[in-house]
Amino acid sequence: MDQKVLEIIADLKSYLEYLRGMGIEALPATGRESEDSHSNLTLQTLEEVRKELGDCRRCKLHRARRTIVFGEGNEKARLMFIGEGPGYDEDVQGRPFVGKAGQLLTKIIQSIHLEREEVYIANIIKCRPPQNRNPEPDEIESCYPFLLKQIQAIQPKVICALGTFAAQTLLNTNAKITALRGRVFDFTGIKVFPTYHPAFLLRNPERKREVWEDVKQISEWMANKDEDS
Ligand code: URA
Repeated sequence: MDQKVLEIIADLKSYLEYLRGMGIEALPATGRESEDSHSNLTLQTLEEVRKELGDCRRCKLHRARRTIVFGEGNEKARLMFIGEGPGYDEDVQGRPFVGKAGQLLTKIIQSIHLEREEVYIANIIKCRPPQNRNPEPDEIESCYPFLLKQIQAIQPKVICALGTFAAQTLLNTNAKITALRGRVFDFTGIKVFPTYHPAFLLRNPERKREVWEDVKQISEWMANKDEDS
């Protein structure tokens, strides 16, 4: 099959997955019904999403967590960073990326002349897994719809997916981060730029240059977008 057709099918598949994550299980068959159903689809504000999340006990991570790390930053951010999940420091403080990896993320953000307060920072899961183990599929499944609602509320132009879990979850792929970074993907009209996770950079500082290149690409893409509009 033509490469372009394959790409359209892949985009459509990821859009349908995205809708399912938002709780939309079926699509109407005709244009008229579609107009009707759109009027029923009310987007939530970040505050409403936080309220709906409540004192979440939807997965087993609630048992050992101290705090829910919802995410923080500019509600109207054009750029969103999405990591994996809270670690020890984040669990204690209730804020994303505040430990050593977080300090490095702050530098990465500043390298493109932005401050943390100008972007929005969130994670695939909102509660710390015991011993910082990887998130499990049922945990991602419970938590991901809330991240999708946050993305809907913020409507960023660009998402920087930090590390394997963020990139694979958002792009619905098993591809390795080494194969994904340095490329641009479409996620329901939002550009996704995967790059290495800051914690990986702490262990492999020689890979920092690639991340700096990736975020520079983001910055250039956003500057070009500004010129267009
Ligand atoms: N690592 C993450 O993926 N997220 C955080 O918030 C902190 C460390």
